[in-house]
Amino acid sequence: MSDASSHVDVDLRGVKDFTANPYPYYEKLRAAGPVHTIRTDEFERIWLVVGYGEGRAALADQRFGKEWQGLVDRPEGNDPIFANMLELDAPHHTRLRKLVTREFTARRVEALRPRVQQITDELLDAMVPAGRADLVDALAFPLPMTVICELIGVPDLDRNTFRKLSNDVVTPSTPEQEREAVVAMGVYLAELIEDKRCSQGDDLMSALVRTRDEEGDGLSPDELVGMAFLLLVAGHETTVNLISNGVRALLHHPDQLGALRADFGLLDGAVEEMLRYDGPVETATFRFPREPVEIGQRVIPAGEPVLISLAGADRDPGRYPEPDRFDIRRDTQGHLAFGHGLHFCLGAPLARMEGRIAIRTLLERCPRLALDVDAGKPDWLPGMLIRGVRELPVRW
Ligand code: HEM
Repeated sequence: MSDASSHVDVDLRGVKDFTANPYPYYEKLRAAGPVHTIRTDEFERIWLVVGYGEGRAALADQRFGKEWQGLVDRPEGNDPIFANMLELDAPHHTRLRKLVTREFTARRVEALRPRVQQITDELLDAMVPAGRADLVDALAFPLPMTVICELIGVPDLDRNTFRKLSNDVVTPSTPEQEREAVVAMGVYLAELIEDKRCSQGDDLMSALVRTRDEEGDGLSPDELVGMAFLLLVAGHETTVNLISNGVRALLHHPDQLGALRADFGLLDGAVEEMLRYDGPVETATFRFPREPVEIGQRVIPAGEPVLISLAGADRDPGRYPEPDRFDIRRDTQGHLAFGHGLHFCLGAPLARMEGRIAIRTLLERCPRLALDVDAGKPDWLPGMLIRGVRELPVRW
């Protein structure tokens, strides 16, 4: 096996069907070894980890840092939105995460259950009479977006403007689109925070603004923008696709759908299998080795960008037998859909609750739910970060 040469295993530039269905690529790569190098439109070489054991170990390995160390330039620039915990190492990460951890504990989230159910019911009240809908627009997007806006205290956020900016930052079609959206998002959130500063509310964002005002070592203006960005974006871009990829998987597997309808006791396991089988986050965000790291018999040089394919790991037959089979009764323990280690998803309890409520209520309200025959080919979100469709036309 090669190590630090300029050799690239797979050139993904211009490969269109990778986005539509990356799993056969991951399978082929995995069969050849757990660690590879790829070339993309933005990077000459990225290290890609596709094996389960190696991916899980790398996510917990302190030799991998999150901060861009100047060895590679960040293509999007260093804007305020990136001053967030997911982009930082200890001690900055620890400090930022601690400020919001208590808002996302299982107990805190459980208290939101009635409100999440109510929002779901209202969205379905509006959707059901029509007999057909784009499920993303009618349920999968507005549910998590409304919940996270209320939770952090920006209930009046202009959802359409935010949705467009967020999509362009997280799943851009071109680097120019991304760059523009990154700048616009920073400006938009800085204004939102300025409003919070004036209104003196008792919500989470206002509390974070005050943390900065009262204590010198609180949040800097960029960190406030970064926190708002991360919570709002991570709080919805992912859960949207848990609901839509999950419903898609069910509708493509009528036996599994039938089993779930017959026994909602299977719901929690079904949602975990949706996360494993076709999870919303395809690869974890970039990591950079602080020193050369040997993994899967290859040596990754210090500072080079590394992606851990959560989708590849969760379909590793060494960990999950017959990984391409969607089976809501399987043991999904240890799946990596929420990541692993220090950056393990802060919102996992909330995402699970939203996913379970949305899917159960949808199936109960629409006993004849099916993919719309006129739907055509799905329009997959571009890039390797988020896995999901722009629209999911269904009827019932
Ligand atoms: C099904 C839905 C979700 C999935 C699949 C998901 C997945 C992930 C993954 C894989 C990571 C780690 C990324 C990495 O290590 O590079 C992460 C981190 C994070 N997620 Fe989620 N997420 C979901 C929902 C949410 C929700 C609802 C929130 C609520 C605010 C949230 C907030 C966060 C935050 C703040 C982090 C960064 C944690 C840190 O850096 O310590 N996520 N998520």
